[in-house]
Amino acid sequence: MAKKKVAILTGGGDAPGLNAVIYSLVRACSPKYDLIGYRFGYRGLYDNDFIPLTLETTSGILHKGGTILFSSNKDNLFDYAVEENGEIVKKDVSDIAIANMKKEGVDTLVVLGGDGTLTSARDFARKGVNVIGVPKTIDNDLASTDITFGFDTAVNVVVENLGRLHTTAESHHRVMVVEVMGRASGWIALHSGIAGSADVILIPEIPYSIDKVVDKIKAREAAGKRFTIIAVTEGAAEKGGQAVVGRVVADSPDSIRFSGIAAKLANDLEHLVDNEVRHCTLGHIQRGGDTSPADRLLSVRYGVKAADMIENEQFGNMVCLRNGKMDFESLEVVLGSSATGSVSTGNSKRVCPDSEMVTVAKRLGISFGD
Ligand code: F6P
Repeated sequence: MAKKKVAILTGGGDAPGLNAVIYSLVRACSPKYDLIGYRFGYRGLYDNDFIPLTLETTSGILHKGGTILFSSNKDNLFDYAVEENGEIVKKDVSDIAIANMKKEGVDTLVVLGGDGTLTSARDFARKGVNVIGVPKTIDNDLASTDITFGFDTAVNVVVENLGRLHTTAESHHRVMVVEVMGRASGWIALHSGIAGSADVILIPEIPYSIDKVVDKIKAREAAGKRFTIIAVTEGAAEKGGQAVVGRVVADSPDSIRFSGIAAKLANDLEHLVDNEVRHCTLGHIQRGGDTSPADRLLSVRYGVKAADMIENEQFGNMVCLRNGKMDFESLEVVLGSSATGSVSTGNSKRVCPDSEMVTVAKRLGISFGD
């Protein structure tokens, strides 16, 4: 009897740990199942563009960031841009993807992604495809799991860079404003700001007042601390203000890219404090390089759990970590029951302003500008 076939795809922005999940899935599923990987996320499913995934083709990738399957954050097959009579029109082409999987004898599709990619996974599950999701994003903003893979690596990168920026801030008595990723969730700024000794942490969940930030800088000055490090999430905004949009990526399920808040804040502050104020945006450095050991461990646990779920036919679910234990949750619950084809971000996991971690930061003297 022919072996069952498992297909893997990676969608959305790359995140450290994607390769580690692929590595562990292939090992936990072999030799019982054959495995293939669709390239460039859902686009590969539409184009029937795949590679075999074997012990050999996945050797030596455990520690590497990025994804050997490549990725795309633009290809929602339920609302896909195709050319018809010389014109670009949006169509639901999911049936073509399903036909491609049938043709290749794919029994199960494992999707590694964040909210956009997993929303499509949910929609394929609604159409009867055997789907399993694995929660990826450096932002850590997916509901139903304590942590996503990629987050720890990003926090490590930011902590290292906050340390480096301390040197110049201290030597020149400057205020350094450091913009970190996270979209509308402040997890990266909160965790790295505490671990990296930031003096001010500004997150989207707690709108800031510029006067409170100035108060903090002046209080430090009065205490002989003549420099200040501010970690700000790209999607943060002043009370009554709007987050700064850096670009709009057409065809991306969530098309808004935030950036520019650090420059704005530095400019605003320079008129209000005596220090020179500089800004720095860490950008995609936060997603690059090798995967942290903690993310490698989390990713291989997710991969092995996904393999167990294939074996137990627990389809339509996402692997998750709950209170330290591997578990799973329905994709309908994780993403919410929005209409097929529409990206669901309403269920995003945000920082609670009353959470223990925010309280700990405040007890350390860190200001949130509130
Ligand atoms: O969701 C991950 C993330 O890195 C966000 O933190 C950031 O806003 C966004 O992706 C950037 O996306 P892109 O790589 O398309 O610019």
